[in-house]
Amino acid sequence: MCGIVAYIGPSDALPVLLDGLRRLEYRGYDSAGLALLNPGGIEVRKAVGRIANLATEIEKFPIRGQAGISHTRWATHGAVTRDNAHPHADQSGKLHLVHNGVIENYQSLREQLQERGHIFHSQTDTEVLAHLVGEAFDRSTSRDGAALIEALRQALRQVIGTYGISVIHAEVPGLIVGARRGSPLVLGIGKHEHFLASDVSAIVAHTREVVYLNDYEIVAIQAEGFEISTVSGTGADFQVSKVEFTAESVDKGQFPHYMLKEIHEQPNSVRDAMRGRLSIEEATAKLGGLNMTNAELRAVDRVILTGCGTALHSALVGEYLIESLSHIPVECEFASEFRYRNIPLDRDTLVFVISQSGETADTLAALRESQRKGHRTLGICNNVASTIARESDGGVYMHAGPEIGVAATKSFTSQLTIFALLGLLLGRIRHLSHSDGRDIIAEMEKLPDLVARTLELETQVAAIAKKYARANNFLFMGRQAHYPVALEGALKLKEISYISASGYPSAELKHGVIALVTEETPSVFIAPQDAVFEKNLSNIEEVKARKGPVIAIGTEGDTSLRKVCDEVILIPDAPVYLSPILSVIPLQMLAYHIANELGCDVDKPRNLAKSVTVE
Ligand code: G6P
Repeated sequence: MCGIVAYIGPSDALPVLLDGLRRLEYRGYDSAGLALLNPGGIEVRKAVGRIANLATEIEKFPIRGQAGISHTRWATHGAVTRDNAHPHADQSGKLHLVHNGVIENYQSLREQLQERGHIFHSQTDTEVLAHLVGEAFDRSTSRDGAALIEALRQALRQVIGTYGISVIHAEVPGLIVGARRGSPLVLGIGKHEHFLASDVSAIVAHTREVVYLNDYEIVAIQAEGFEISTVSGTGADFQVSKVEFTAESVDKGQFPHYMLKEIHEQPNSVRDAMRGRLSIEEATAKLGGLNMTNAELRAVDRVILTGCGTALHSALVGEYLIESLSHIPVECEFASEFRYRNIPLDRDTLVFVISQSGETADTLAALRESQRKGHRTLGICNNVASTIARESDGGVYMHAGPEIGVAATKSFTSQLTIFALLGLLLGRIRHLSHSDGRDIIAEMEKLPDLVARTLELETQVAAIAKKYARANNFLFMGRQAHYPVALEGALKLKEISYISASGYPSAELKHGVIALVTEETPSVFIAPQDAVFEKNLSNIEEVKARKGPVIAIGTEGDTSLRKVCDEVILIPDAPVYLSPILSVIPLQMLAYHIANELGCDVDKPRNLAKSVTVE
C-alpha cells in the first residue's frame, strides 16, 4: 500500500531508488515518482503506471543526486494521475514529501491552508501534509536540520491519520527526515550512507543493519549518521536488528514470476514453519513465542482467529484443524468486522490475529481492539518486527521468507502448518495421549516431502489451465476443512486472472449455486478420500447431470473420480488435519497458469496491493 524509498550517501541515488521502488512495487503500482537533491536544487520526475514508466521518463529527462526520496503509489485520495503521484511539494516548492497512509482530517487542514493563501495542485491528502510542514519550516528563523525536524513535529501534531513519510528540503541539503504512525518505515544503516524504506526488501541489497521505527518516531538521516526522536520532542530508544534474509531471497531467481517461485518454495516454507517446534520427547509442539505457560494454555476455552483475505481463509481452515486436534471451540471473524462488532468474549478466550505482512490496517485494528478489552492477543505473522508482531502479546512467526507476489501462496500453507502445531500443543495438554502426539508429529514430518510431490503435478495442472482458461466463471467446492480451501482457490483465480469465481461448501450446490452450472462453467471439487468423500461424489454427479465440466482434486489411488469427472488431479494422502496444505497447491497452480495463459500480470494484479495499510 504505497512504497517509500529514500537514500543519502556518496553513491548516485537514482539507481538505488529505482531498484528499491521495483522491489516495493508489490505495495502499489499505479504511479511513481522521485525527487533528487543536487547542488542546483531539487528535481522531480513522475510517471503514471509502473516503475518502468518512471525509468523511461528519467531516461528522457535525466537527473542525478546523492540524496533523494521516492514513492510507488496505490491511490487512495485522488485519481491515478501524474499530478496526484508523489512526491508532493509545499507552497515554496522547496520541500518535497512522499507519504504512505491516509491523513483523515486533510479536508479541513486544506481549507485552513487555502485561507492562508496556499494553492494546491493535486487532490491528495499528502500535498496538504507537505504544505503544513513547509509552512512550519518557513515560520522558523533558522534554516537548518533542527528547524526542519521541528517543523515536521509541528505538522504531525495537527494531523489525524496514518503516515510513513520522507521529506527533503532544498535549503537543508545533506538531510532526509522521516516519520511513522501506522504505516511502516525502516531505517537502513550503511557505511557512510543511510536509507529509509517501507520494507527492508527495498534496501537489503545494500545493508542488513536496520532499525524498525515505532509509531510517533521521527528519524533524520545524513550520510554519516542518523538521529531518532519522537513527535512529542523526546529522544527515542532504538534497537539495531539484522535482517534475516538476503538480497537473493527477494529475487525471482529462475522463475518467471514471484508467485510461481513462492508456490515452489512451499516444501521449505512448510518445513521452516515447523523447524525446532516439534518435540518428539514430549510428543508435542513447542511454541515459546506464545509467552504462555501450559497452565495458561490449559485454561483457554475458546479461540478466535481473525485476519483479512487469504489470512482469513487460512483461519477458516485453522478452525477445523485446531478443533479436530484440541477439541477447543474456534471461531473466525473478518478483522474488518471484528474491529467494529462488539463480539462477546469470555475471560479465557484466546485471540489470534493472522497477517503475512503484519501491517494490514484492519487486522492491526482488530488486535488493538482485542487488547483494549483486556484479552491476550497473539499474532501469526511472517514479517519480523512488523507492527502486528511487535504489538501482539506473543505469537508465532511463519519464517516463510519474503512473499512478494501479491497473491499470497506460501504464507497460506505456513499458516496452516502453524495451526496444526497449535492444535497439537493445545490437544496434548488435554485429551491427546503421548502416542497420539507421536503419531501426529510423524505425519507432520512427512509434510515437506508431500508438498514437494504435490508440486510435481504442475505439468498436468498447466494443461488443464490451458483447456479451461477461456471460461468466464468458475465454481470451487469442498467440504469440511476443504471448504475454505475452495474459497482460497476461488480468491486466487479472481485476484490474478479476473475470472469470476466463487467458493462454496459442496452441499450448498443444491441450495442455489447449481443454477450457475452450464457446459461453460467449470466446477472445481476438492474431494480427497475422507469421511465425506461419497457426499462430494454425489455433488459432483449433480453437476455432471447438468453437463457442467468437473475438475476434481482427489487422493492418490482414487479410481472413482475418473469415472465421472472431466479432469482428476491426485494429491498425496495425508491426515485430515494436514490435507488442506496439499489440496490448495493445485488450486494455486491452476490460478497461476490460467492467469499466465490469459497474459495477465500475475505478480501485480489490477487494483490490488499486497499490504493494505488503509482501512
Ligand atoms: C491484501 C492482499 C491479500 C492478503 C490480505 C491480507 O488484501 O492483497 O493477498 O491476503 O491483504 O494480508 P496480510 O498481510 O494481513 O496477510
